[in-house]
Amino acid sequence: MENQEQNTPGLEKLFARLEEVTADMEKSDITLEESFALYNEGMQLLKQCNETIDAVEKKFRFWTRMEKFMSFKEIQKEKTAQIEQILKAYLPRVQGYQEVIMDAMSYSMLAGGKRLRPMLMQETYRMFGGTDRVIEPFMAAIEMIHTYSLVHDDLPAMDNDEYRRGRKTTHVVYGEDMGILTGDALLNYAFETAASAFEMAPEKSLLIGKAIRILGQKAGIYGMIGGQVVDVKSSGKKIDGEKLEFIYRLKTGALIEASMMIGAVLAGADDESVQVVEEIAAKVGMAFQIQDDILDVISTTEVLGKPVHSDEKNEKMTYVVWKGLDVAKQEVEHLSRKAISDVRALNPKDDYLEILLESLIYREK
Ligand code: IPE
Ligand code: IPE
Ligand code: MG
Ligand code: MG
Ligand code: MG
Repeated sequence: MENQEQNTPGLEKLFARLEEVTADMEKSDITLEESFALYNEGMQLLKQCNETIDAVEKKFRFWTRMEKFMSFKEIQKEKTAQIEQILKAYLPRVQGYQEVIMDAMSYSMLAGGKRLRPMLMQETYRMFGGTDRVIEPFMAAIEMIHTYSLVHDDLPAMDNDEYRRGRKTTHVVYGEDMGILTGDALLNYAFETAASAFEMAPEKSLLIGKAIRILGQKAGIYGMIGGQVVDVKSSGKKIDGEKLEFIYRLKTGALIEASMMIGAVLAGADDESVQVVEEIAAKVGMAFQIQDDILDVISTTEVLGKPVHSDEKNEKMTYVVWKGLDVAKQEVEHLSRKAISDVRALNPKDDYLEILLESLIYREK
């Protein structure tokens, strides 16, 4: 690139010479030989002009993308901070003989997760025209359920991991008994929290009821728990691709589906749109879990905030084991791009959600 810049004249010089050559060509007294030579030089100049313009255009596109991405990062930071505030506001006060459980709930919740699920919920809500705060208890609820799934997933009887979100796992700090109860507490409190939406917006009771049902279904035996069951039962065993995709769709996809579907439902989207959203979220969830598997192999504990090589330790069949790293990476990109174009078809005006999904392709944690 540097070389090319040094050896090729600037556009201005190229244009000036092209002007001269064109003027000479137009003279009536030139010989055939001269006109051939001028023609060849002119074509050469034109080629150089095109190449230079292409290179400038490429740089321009790169910097436009960078500008968009940097402003996305800024907005994402702000949005995440707002979500943190909502989560804090909905956590129970630490009090009573049982205060250790409230303490452990805060410990696991406020340990610095990415907050992807509440963010997807809020963005989908906005995409379908939702504006009021009835979404907030649901944003807190989905993060509580997700956090409970992590607390239990790390237990000695499950993946037996000692780090999560950059700190010691809940059961390591509070003991296994409290680890189990913290998961239970977060799951139950999620529904208490979501149900507070009825008082906030009684006129939306029907939609709130629908959203609570989705939360229950997607977290339950046909959703996250179902996926975890098959995941744990398959440890150390060879399973086929169909079963692997079943596990991913349920253990990880289901809560991401719930997040986006609840956003759509509370904003009053019709059933058909909610189904489209469910399919988009399923792709996002599948890509997200494949990337999780990739990072388990190629990342570090410092970056991830959780142990690497956990899957290998537990003899888990993963997408990376099944197809290899390169194909796994391609699949993350393919699924995400499809989800992005489906989002664009739903709402061509909303940039943030699209870039958020794109950023997940390259996520490092
Ligand atoms: C981790 O989820 C568990 C999976 C479903 C892959 P996240 O990667 O969203 O974890 P946090 O919330 O940022 O800690
Ligand atoms: C777990 O998948 C998904 C959950 C429902 C918690 P993993 O076991 O791969 O998640 P991590 O890697 O421990 O976060
Ligand atoms: Mg697991
Ligand atoms: Mg795990
Ligand atoms: Mg993992």
